[in-house]
Amino acid sequence: MKAVLLVGGLGTRLRPLTYRIPKPLVPVMGKPLIMHAVDSLPDEVDEVIIPVGYKKEAMQDYLEKNRPKRKITLVDEPEPLGTGGAVKNVEEYIDGPFMVLNGDMISSLDLNGFLRFHREKGGIASISLWQVEDPSPFGVALLDEDNRITRFQEKPKREDAFSDWINAGAYALEYEVLDHIGEGFVSMEREVFPKLLDHGMYGLKFDGHWIDCGTRENLLGAFNILMGTTGSVSPEAVTEGAVINHPVVVEKGAVIAGATIGPDSYISERAVVGPLSDVQGSVIYCDARIGSKSKIRGSIIDEGVTIPDGAEIVSKIISHVTEE
Ligand code: GDD
Ligand code: MG
Repeated sequence: MKAVLLVGGLGTRLRPLTYRIPKPLVPVMGKPLIMHAVDSLPDEVDEVIIPVGYKKEAMQDYLEKNRPKRKITLVDEPEPLGTGGAVKNVEEYIDGPFMVLNGDMISSLDLNGFLRFHREKGGIASISLWQVEDPSPFGVALLDEDNRITRFQEKPKREDAFSDWINAGAYALEYEVLDHIGEGFVSMEREVFPKLLDHGMYGLKFDGHWIDCGTRENLLGAFNILMGTTGSVSPEAVTEGAVINHPVVVEKGAVIAGATIGPDSYISERAVVGPLSDVQGSVIYCDARIGSKSKIRGSIIDEGVTIPDGAEIVSKIISHVTEE
């Protein structure tokens, strides 16, 4: 079975981090977002097709250096074709029922169970559903008692939202779905899903965790979810006088030199946090150096960045690459 991974967005809300690397390569707990998606796929998926435009070389480079076990095929998408158009564009690689995943989420959905659900229901399409308080920034689905979707609307106004179950970005699709996608720019959610309702579209509700990592707050949230309630600290990374407020992860080769870390912080390999600095709710990527007496809150410090002594950084993403 083939799976199509949708990662074509520009990641504008994670700039300047996404000036340096495309969103799919942004590491979450030491692993790029796309590999979280790839590793969650059922065993029967033998090839992952990724339509790419923005920063294709960086993706190629990553795959060559890391050689994932699953076959991954990058396909050119020179102009963004939308979530439906991107799938239609790789039609020649698809040979039967297939899966599609939005590549920017961290999710506990069991995709083996999801495929079983799709087969049992026997519809043309199944989508995963997650419950939220405010469904307006998402695609919203209404279900009948057999879990068949009777209405779907992308990003309704809050007062028009007819359900609080939203599209969580994992689809199991029959090959015929491709016949319902036109040429050119097509939105899967706005144009294709509404047409599939009459052909049997089902929704699988799940719980556990789910987060779309497209913003600074949500990317930090993804680290928190995966860190759990304690985290882990590489013992040789911590020097005398350091204070660790769990949950915190400190990777090997990092140095916490008499600084206060946590809660909810992730310090990557070889990053250094200087004396009397205080890092809360933040992610420090590899080789970054935080000077002494600095305060970092709710922020993401990119690879190799140096933060001077006495700095105060609140709710920011800092990278050494600052433009396209
Ligand atoms: N190849 C390609 N081409 N991929 C694209 C394109 C495109 O033109 N546009 C978006 N994508 C990718 C994005 O990179 C992302 O991984 C995924 O498709 C979804 O697009 P987003 O731009 O992140 O959409 P969204 O988050 O506003 O809404 C989507 O996800 C929600 C859940 O997070 C929709 O599917 C909603 O219905 C859903 O609730
Ligand atoms: Mg998104």
